[in-house]
Amino acid sequence: MVLASGMGSCRGLQTMLDPAADQARDIDAVWRAMLVVCGVMYVLVLGFLMWALWRARRRSLAPEAPPMVGHSAAEPRLERGLAGWAALIVAGLIGLVTVSFLVDRSLAEVGPDPVKVKVTAHQWWWQVEYQGLTPSQAVTTANELHLPLGRPAVVELQARDVIHSFWVPNLAGKVDLIPGRTNYVALTPRRQGSFRGQCAEFCGLQHAKMAFDVEVESPQAFDAWRSRQLTGAPPPAGPAEQHGQAVFNTKACALCHRVQGTEAGGTTGPDLTHLMGRRRIAAGALPNSRGALQAWVADPQGVKPGTTMPRVALTAGELNDVVSYLETLR
Ligand code: CUA
Repeated sequence: MVLASGMGSCRGLQTMLDPAADQARDIDAVWRAMLVVCGVMYVLVLGFLMWALWRARRRSLAPEAPPMVGHSAAEPRLERGLAGWAALIVAGLIGLVTVSFLVDRSLAEVGPDPVKVKVTAHQWWWQVEYQGLTPSQAVTTANELHLPLGRPAVVELQARDVIHSFWVPNLAGKVDLIPGRTNYVALTPRRQGSFRGQCAEFCGLQHAKMAFDVEVESPQAFDAWRSRQLTGAPPPAGPAEQHGQAVFNTKACALCHRVQGTEAGGTTGPDLTHLMGRRRIAAGALPNSRGALQAWVADPQGVKPGTTMPRVALTAGELNDVVSYLETLR
């Protein structure tokens, strides 16, 4: 089937047609059921319409059209036809309601021993926190989620300012983050790899640039990542990096950003302790490269107009050193 092979080729890191978690697979099943039921109905309706048009035209063109069949003979046929259609539609709807009900139930279920992650949406970035057994075991990061393969995860969703929506199409459906309310989404990833999440509710100027990365990795790699997140940043070694840190801590940077193990303790912006471990910066707006970091620090409003990150007046030398310092945050 052309359609099936076309759908089979829809692979990618941000598509609901390439499910990589139990929840996304269930949603995909509903989608396919709806496509098949509605597709068959559509083809049948159009087919009968064409047939009726063709028949009417043939009749009107016939030289001696026989008189229309009397009411007595046509009515039972018409009634049977209508009853058949109604039965078909009801059966299709019952099928869709059943599939949707079953999937809804399965989406609400959480497997045993889930990884608990708290995601807080801000205009326009994602704060990500992993609870530990003790507060000192808690991990804070931004714009990235790491999940162990095959283990259920529950993501607690909150918002600080306006309504956002958490959506990783390959893993699960959309769930809104609403100020003053806590929502949850369950995910059980079944395929290792990188996926892209995106805010799916218009939340202001930079809604489109409010993305995040999800890394599904082996349980060992996840544990290694998690324990690395618990360590502080190593003190910068070279003079440029040390100067960069001094600039970072004395200018506005440290007021908003935290670097664990240093005096930078701001919490209004992303935690930068392990910044270089992230694939992208500025909530997916730029790749994580030296050039992009320089562009972002030099002119945040040029990259994301409206962002709450202000432009900090730095000389070219200071900018270079700050970026060199940021590159030590591994
Ligand atoms: Cu946050 Cu759209």
